[in-house]
Amino acid sequence: MNSDLKGKVAFITGAAHGQGRATAIALAREGAHIAAFDIAKQLSYPGYSMGSEDELQSLKKECEAIGVSCEIFRGDVRNDKDITPAVNKVKEVFGRIDILFNNAGICAYGLADELTEEEWDAMLDINLKGAWLVARRIIPVMKEQKSGVIINNSSIAGLRGMNRLCHYAASKWGLTGLTKSWAIELAPFNIRVIAIHPTGVNTPMNDGLAFLEGTTAKEIAERSAGNLIDVPWVEPDDVANAVVFLSSEKARFVTGSSFVLDAGLLTR
Ligand SMILES: NC(=O)c1ccc[n+]([C@@H]2O[C@H](COP(=O)([O-])OP(=O)(O)OC[C@H]3O[C@@H](n4cnc5c(N)ncnc54)[C@H](O)[C@@H]3O)[C@@H](O)[C@H]2O)c1
Repeated sequence: MNSDLKGKVAFITGAAHGQGRATAIALAREGAHIAAFDIAKQLSYPGYSMGSEDELQSLKKECEAIGVSCEIFRGDVRNDKDITPAVNKVKEVFGRIDILFNNAGICAYGLADELTEEEWDAMLDINLKGAWLVARRIIPVMKEQKSGVIINNSSIAGLRGMNRLCHYAASKWGLTGLTKSWAIELAPFNIRVIAIHPTGVNTPMNDGLAFLEGTTAKEIAERSAGNLIDVPWVEPDDVANAVVFLSSEKARFVTGSSFVLDAGLLTR
């Protein structure tokens, strides 16, 4: 256990399932209290399963069984009317926010000349603008504390091009830019900012993309990946372990950088 995470407070977006949930549980095991924020309803685009209210409730129970508190919030990272009350409630209950994991995101395939404006806007608004909308409300809390860590869940698509994923890649490169710019702005306040770049991860998103494409998750992984280490994908716990490390004092001088968790893909 990283004892320095005990009693810390982590605000996690997209926490109902997938990487957000795994990270919430990993941080809870380190003794951190959790604020879990998720849209918890279906979206017409991209059209695969989002998180649910039941998943948020079961996450709360799981965290409490571990021995930490968990506040759950249904909300959209595109909507400040959802974000501001959630942040205010977390401040009221816990008095602080130490870690922000900007993780909520969607993915879907489409060629540049076939995407609609609605699809483009949904991708950029959730994956990129949403991260800023949430951070905008949490940064002042961290500034006042003179401490904090913001981790933006980008992707290998935030460091390379991806076929039929230009809107996704643009959103993920955008997160890389946010990370570097915020690291400069926030270093004087002892706030670190890091982007993580996973290869394919075994989550409902992967299954959802397979569903949309009428194929298997393995075929989706093989299409975009080519990991050096012979695995189709990494597990949500691999991402969670990275976030635990990067949030901890063990990573105290890591800021503005890109943490690549790609089973070697980008080395090819
Ligand atoms: N799965 C992968 O292969 C992979 C690889 C690299 C990076 N990523 C990124 O990691 C992050 C997490 O992905 P995942 O694989 O766990 O996906 P997932 O679809 O399994 O989970 C995403 C969660 O985000 C929530 N969410 C979606 N839109 C939201 C919104 N507007 N407001 C609030 N919550 C919202 C969903 O309800 C869901 O619970 C995403 O940003 C994704 O782009 C995924």
